[in-house]
Amino acid sequence: MSAPAPAAGTARPRHAPWRTALITGATAGIGLAFADILARDGTHLVLVARDGDRLAEVADRLRARHPIAVTTIAADLRTDAGLTRIEDRLRDGEAPIDLLVNNAGTGTRGAFHTLPVQAELDVVALSAVAVVRLCRAALAPMVERGSGWIVNVSSLAGFQPDPLTATYGAAKAFSLSLSEALYDEVRGSGVRVTALCPSFTATEFHRRAGIDVSRVPARAWLPAERVALAGLRAVERGRPVCVPGTPYRLLAALSTVAPRRLARFGSRVFAGAR
Ligand SMILES: NC(=O)c1ccc[n+]([C@@H]2O[C@H](COP(=O)([O-])OP(=O)(O)OC[C@H]3O[C@@H](n4cnc5c(N)ncnc54)[C@H](OP(=O)(O)O)[C@@H]3O)[C@@H](O)[C@H]2O)c1
Repeated sequence: MSAPAPAAGTARPRHAPWRTALITGATAGIGLAFADILARDGTHLVLVARDGDRLAEVADRLRARHPIAVTTIAADLRTDAGLTRIEDRLRDGEAPIDLLVNNAGTGTRGAFHTLPVQAELDVVALSAVAVVRLCRAALAPMVERGSGWIVNVSSLAGFQPDPLTATYGAAKAFSLSLSEALYDEVRGSGVRVTALCPSFTATEFHRRAGIDVSRVPARAWLPAERVALAGLRAVERGRPVCVPGTPYRLLAALSTVAPRRLARFGSRVFAGAR
């Protein structure tokens, strides 16, 4: 389904440089926070997730509060059919998408050899395959127009190998590396690409994945709104990587300079503490 152009009389963005954004995983957590912030700034929205009823609820709420056009696409981004629908929307030259937020993601936790392989493949499908396909579909028209913004929601887990969340860490390392490479490739074209790399963020993510976070201290958690806002600021300023929260920024920096053996050790200790 292709979203219509914004209705006549709807507001143009007040502060933001973009006019229309497409957000995947927009019904909960970080994606919903992106939708709320962008709606407040007057950005027209295309919201993507699987649950159509929940999408409709979010869209109705945002339309009631803000003078913006909100359309929804119910799609499972693990499937070729779902991805094709979003690619078609991203390529629609009649109603261009200026800002793409690749946010939908799931996780697993446990010893790799004990986890159901389909759940591991789902992690890769959302955090790697979908990111490649949607970036590819969005970037070509953006580069042609000489303007565009892409935020790929990666993770602090992407900075080092992650025992007990091995596939998740590897998939997020993929999206982090892809984003940095794309940032560099399109530099100077008017298009900006940012990898947003949060750590613990208060969302539905861990409950959905059946991950016990009872040992994670309250102070470790970031609000989803803060994470989304940091990502938007970073992409607007043309930053390739954004790690919200000072302690997490330091950890990311340490992972980047530490010898691989030390990074693996730190990650093992961190995994054991969770
Ligand atoms: N929460 C954290 O601590 C944390 C930390 C670092 C990075 N991240 C990353 O942040 C991103 C957002 O996570 P979150 O914490 O906000 O998760 P969340 O609260 O569980 O929300 C996930 C969103 O993605 C959608 N979604 C899930 N599977 C989908 C599929 N197959 N196709 C389309 N949409 C799908 C969900 O809606 P439906 O179920 O209706 O499809 C929902 O809107 C993920 O990429 C995650 O890896 C999260």
